[in-house]
Amino acid sequence: MPISRIESLVYGIADMAAGIRYFEDWGLKAVEQGERGAVFDTPAGQTIRLLPIDDPSLPAAPDGDRSTARQTVWGVDSVDDLEAIGAELSKDRDVARASDGTLSTFDDSGFSIGFTVTQPTAVQVEAPRVNLNENSQRLNEVVEAIPRAAPLRLGHVVFNISKDGGDRAVAFYLDRLGFRLSDRTLTGGDFMRCAGSRDHHNLFLLQRDDRPAFNHAAFEVRDFDEIMMGGTFMRGRGWEPETTPGRHILGSNLYWYFRNPCGGNTEYFADMDCMDNDWEPRIWDKSPGFALWSIDGPVQPSSPPAASSDS
Ligand SMILES: [Fe+2]
Repeated sequence: MPISRIESLVYGIADMAAGIRYFEDWGLKAVEQGERGAVFDTPAGQTIRLLPIDDPSLPAAPDGDRSTARQTVWGVDSVDDLEAIGAELSKDRDVARASDGTLSTFDDSGFSIGFTVTQPTAVQVEAPRVNLNENSQRLNEVVEAIPRAAPLRLGHVVFNISKDGGDRAVAFYLDRLGFRLSDRTLTGGDFMRCAGSRDHHNLFLLQRDDRPAFNHAAFEVRDFDEIMMGGTFMRGRGWEPETTPGRHILGSNLYWYFRNPCGGNTEYFADMDCMDNDWEPRIWDKSPGFALWSIDGPVQPSSPPAASSDS
């Protein structure tokens, strides 16, 4: 049942105007917007949906009493795959079918998940070119300033889950939905990628002592320049960083996190590790740490920052 990516992320939020302003500043394009909600899309054809926190169509969430992500919709390759997922999950839980065919249910931590046939838009993008000694990939061209980031796609989501039952919650994705394990830290959590993806992770379940909660959504940009210029623009617009910029150890991606009024954080990321079935999952007795390096970061936490926003 090849799941290939995140197709849509749905938020239920208290302050619609702030949420819309945030995602506009983040660099996404609004394709619909009004007092009762907004829809943004990525160049890769994914959608970010903002709905009022009291919208009756929103599914419940463990942290749904505050602004947060309320549903992750996963994109599958075909109608047959969609039906196979529906048949599998119907064995032990209710699976609802929307008028557009999207299937919805809940994972073992109580988060709403949906499934739909993926509709990717091909993104034409040139990999960054660098100059090194006599290797001049960028000959006779300068590095241009960009006013702000323009994320290409939504790459991964992260949820805090309960330690109690955490292994079963992870097994649901690995055994029932075909996710692949990339890295597991016995003191932290599990980095998983969709069967149809080469990203180090599309889903990270972080086992914590507190209640289950959405942690962050991560958007891929072209390179470190775009992270820095986009993040600087965000700061100039008054949005608060959750971290300084840096490079992760697990996944190797460059990052910068910001606090999202829609709930949790958003992350600009670039240059993440890619892997296929030749990759042997690594099991870490102890987390190797949060960052290879970070700017002005004296001590970095050993796991992603808590979704500290109570907005
Ligand atoms: Fe992340």
